[in-house]
Amino acid sequence: MLGPVILAASRSDRMRRLISAAPVTKQVVDRFIPGESVADIVPIIEELTGRGLELTMDVVGEDITTPEQAAAARDAYLALVERLRGLGLGERVEMSVKLSMFGQALDGGHELALANVRPVVEAAAAIGTTVTLDAEDHTTLDSMFAIHEELRRDFPQTGCVIQAYLFRTEADARRLAEAGSRVRLVKGAYKEPAEVAYQQKHEIDKAYVRILRTLMEGEGYPMVGSHDPRLISIAQELARRAGRKPDEYEFQMLYGIRSDEHLRLAAEGHRMRVYTAYGTDWYGYFMRRLAEKPANLRFFLRSMVSK
Ligand code: FDA
Repeated sequence: MLGPVILAASRSDRMRRLISAAPVTKQVVDRFIPGESVADIVPIIEELTGRGLELTMDVVGEDITTPEQAAAARDAYLALVERLRGLGLGERVEMSVKLSMFGQALDGGHELALANVRPVVEAAAAIGTTVTLDAEDHTTLDSMFAIHEELRRDFPQTGCVIQAYLFRTEADARRLAEAGSRVRLVKGAYKEPAEVAYQQKHEIDKAYVRILRTLMEGEGYPMVGSHDPRLISIAQELARRAGRKPDEYEFQMLYGIRSDEHLRLAAEGHRMRVYTAYGTDWYGYFMRRLAEKPANLRFFLRSMVSK
């Protein structure tokens, strides 16, 4: 029951101000967002890649309100690419972006977001890596898929995310399961109405399996974004039945969640990519992680009380 309340709070400016100013122990936020700057994050990149993991980097931030903030988001990603160039890790470290951070919700936002994200995709390609477009709430998705299609004309490796909880996603998956595409399937992290999305966990899980089957049997490159042990073993089985080799799909999990499992899957020879967020505008990302697991909220509240 707590999840929807926390998700509603994640879009509230008042709560953002309140929680961002609270004496949250750095430890709690750090569990999910292990740095504020490129300089902070480089040692983490080196450590995780050194342990056989791959990464997708997210500069936290979303729902910006001015074109200047959108340009700053673009520049933050370009600074990251510049640093990655020096590390020479190629596609082992890719990037995930939220188009709302690139101006998608502003006036003329579709064009603005495309204009801001294109140089990032271009710079990523120049160092041998790529970008995946995250999926935000359902009202943004037509624009996200159109931008994805546009970017793929010049950069076919550009990935996108689809969310199992949305009714539309089975059709999106059929359209996207084509040669050369890279698609991350997740359950979905936003508060969505019953008109557009399954509300019950068992319905979402069943949809996840149906969509995953479409992706595994298709010709694209499926990226299995989940920490759910049941779905991970189903994914392995679906990959086996579809005749996919271990380098023809990958698992993805979030930094700070089931970290032992990251290492276990990598040690078994799977491609395992860790979604690693950093930056100062951590509120929305952090609140979604709290909403996914009430125990996180208890830990967070306890740490505030014990300050
Ligand atoms: P589920 O929520 O059932 O969790 C399974 C188990 O994992 C739990 O029992 C618990 O052990 C552990 N777990 C999960 N979440 C946890 C948490 N926050 N803290 C502690 N333990 C936790 N969503 C979206 O809408 N758009 C997007 O672009 C993305 N991108 C994305 C990338 C990657 C790589 C991942 C893994 C996830 C996303 N998500 C996302 C988030 C996704 O939609 C979903 O909310 C979370 O992955 C949680 O769902 P699970 O599939 O892990 O299952």
